[in-house]
Amino acid sequence: MDTPADIEGAAAALRAGRLVILPTETVYGLAADASNPRAVAAIYEAKGRPSFNPLIAHVADVAAARRVARFDARAEALAAAFWPGPLTLVLPVADEAAVCDLARAGLDTVAVRAPAHPLAQALLQAFGGPLVAPSANRSGRPSPTTFADAQAETGAAAAAGLDGGPCRIGLESTVVALLDTPRLLRPGAVTRAEIEALIGPLADAEADARRSPGRLARHYAPNLPVRLDVTAPEEGEAWLAFGPGGAGPFNLSHAGDLAEAAANLFAYLRAADRSGANGIAVAPIPETGLGEAINDRLRRAAGFVG
Ligand code: TXA
Ligand code: MG
Repeated sequence: MDTPADIEGAAAALRAGRLVILPTETVYGLAADASNPRAVAAIYEAKGRPSFNPLIAHVADVAAARRVARFDARAEALAAAFWPGPLTLVLPVADEAAVCDLARAGLDTVAVRAPAHPLAQALLQAFGGPLVAPSANRSGRPSPTTFADAQAETGAAAAAGLDGGPCRIGLESTVVALLDTPRLLRPGAVTRAEIEALIGPLADAEADARRSPGRLARHYAPNLPVRLDVTAPEEGEAWLAFGPGGAGPFNLSHAGDLAEAAANLFAYLRAADRSGANGIAVAPIPETGLGEAINDRLRRAAGFVG
């Protein structure tokens, strides 16, 4: 990849069917023109995805989203409350050409989100159409939350990249399917409680695994083995502590703040992986609010979730 691009340079690369490293408020993405099957194929190749797992179409706002997906009252309410921001809606597809078959993995549904990051917004405006952007990691690895980590993962496949600094949230967007019963496919920064307050109870993803093909058991995984709920790490383990008194360089939040822990999670997993330790031990994280999303990623990093 060349040096960080400006918005116009990045938009031109996308129009030419090339890939661009895209900062968002959640994690860095590897973006392509959603309507261009060749560009989308290059994303799957760059990530080394084992199968064609559907991608999220990123749009500037709800008006652009309505051109791609069929909105109902629930989708309107959630978009009004949380966009632009870290919420992805899975809806019936409205325009099959705007987000090509390969990007949807052949499904008749499409995942859409309007990211809040100013550089993502600027690129979407300049490009003028939907961009698919999976997290910019190689398949199965932790999502990159800095430009340098994104470059290290998939930078070689990108024609350009935008450096937006460290990601404010640090966890991927919440994914909610609004097809029949509303379903939480992936917990994230917008919490279950915030969504349920607007549209009522959410069913769980695990009850319908076919609908969330991206949710592999071992995912977000560092190279070292990961142990969870550890209050006293063993000799040689890197410890991802949480809360006051947790010693070592990888305390996710000394203050016990879940938002701070989420923002640090993937960068600390990477740093612990590189630290020369023989394993990674993680302190218990409360399951409340953002903790549901943090624990979901940790269980996948440890290979526990089916
Ligand atoms: O925060 C995010 O969402 C980041 C940033 C870059 O925007 N993107 C991201 O994309 O996490 P990705 O591809 O790593 O994860 C997309 C998730 C996968 O679990 C995928 O299976 C699911 O969304 N998904 C996409 N389209 C779907 C569909 N039509 N039905 C069900 N699940 C879908
Ligand atoms: Mg991902």
